Amino acid sequence: MQSFSQDLTSRKVDAELSQLLQALAQISAQISHDVRRGALAGILGATESENVQGETQKKLDVIANDLIKDGLAKLDLVKGIASEEEDDVVALNPNGRFLVSFDPLDGSSNIDINSLVGTIFSILPAPEGELTQDSFLQPGRQQLAAGYVLYGPSSLMAISTGKGTQLYTLDPISGDFLLIDDAMQIPATTQEFAINMSNQRFWEPAMQNYIADLLKGDTGVRGKNFNMRWIAAMVGDVHRVLSRGGIFTYPTDTKNPAKPYKLRLMYEANPMALLVEQAGGLASTGYQDILDIQPEGIHQRVAVVLGSRDEVTECLKYHG
Ligand code: AHG
Ligand code: MN
Ligand code: MN
Ligand code: MN
Repeated sequence: MQSFSQDLTSRKVDAELSQLLQALAQISAQISHDVRRGALAGILGATESENVQGETQKKLDVIANDLIKDGLAKLDLVKGIASEEEDDVVALNPNGRFLVSFDPLDGSSNIDINSLVGTIFSILPAPEGELTQDSFLQPGRQQLAAGYVLYGPSSLMAISTGKGTQLYTLDPISGDFLLIDDAMQIPATTQEFAINMSNQRFWEPAMQNYIADLLKGDTGVRGKNFNMRWIAAMVGDVHRVLSRGGIFTYPTDTKNPAKPYKLRLMYEANPMALLVEQAGGLASTGYQDILDIQPEGIHQRVAVVLGSRDEVTECLKYHG
């Protein structure tokens, strides 16, 4: 089996981008190690602080954020970072070629129940000049690479540098990620959907109608039965979609009028959209491809509908 570094070389990935991706893989292996030790590594429970999103930070949110920030600061390659757990962008090396946006720990509500969590990251080219939030406001199509690491029963890393989506498994003994799938492919059709059904009454009519038709099963307009899954960590739900197909959505809702969307564009939706598109799937807001959005802020939120091509297309018909 090829190691991650061998695979990047055989794919002719730019040497510095490759170095940055390997650093992210190494840092994730450290996070994976801490996640596996659980209470023994002091990672469970909450801190007393809130992040810019108004969420109470879990200890592991902060530990993972600091591991990534400090690990990237040691390289000369990164001009700045934007993180879910940092209010503002953080400048690293003024000469760095890359910007990294990341969700250090996705699925925070799963930490204390020993369920799926992960790390999501997105790499953009660094524009010339002083680093500001504006430096990051590039559409997702400009991403040079994106990936996630899922800390599950095994630790897995999915990466795209724009030439398909590759999957690697962490060997906890050597600390290396080894290639297990060199071209992930999402089946075009599916009978599985993922949505937080408890928000049903707050969705727009388009999503209400679409899900209602799925629930009618083989006697309704769709003519087939659908199963439902919800891990409550995007990284886990998207990994399932990449592995066996499905549609995942966190749609617009009116539960909190000041916050109509849940997922963050720069470090959740964009990297996942690249991985999904590169595996033959679609990623939309319901009205526009995620990767075409011109970002307006580093913590901007968006509606997300992604997964199996034919099923996402079906869902988009309801949105007109
Ligand atoms: P995070 O833990 O990084 O704040 O992200 C949580 C997100 C996402 O991972 C997941 O899909 C969603 O929140 C779960 O939302 P519900 O709590 O509504 O299930
Ligand atoms: Mn998240
Ligand atoms: Mn997070
Ligand atoms: Mn959070």
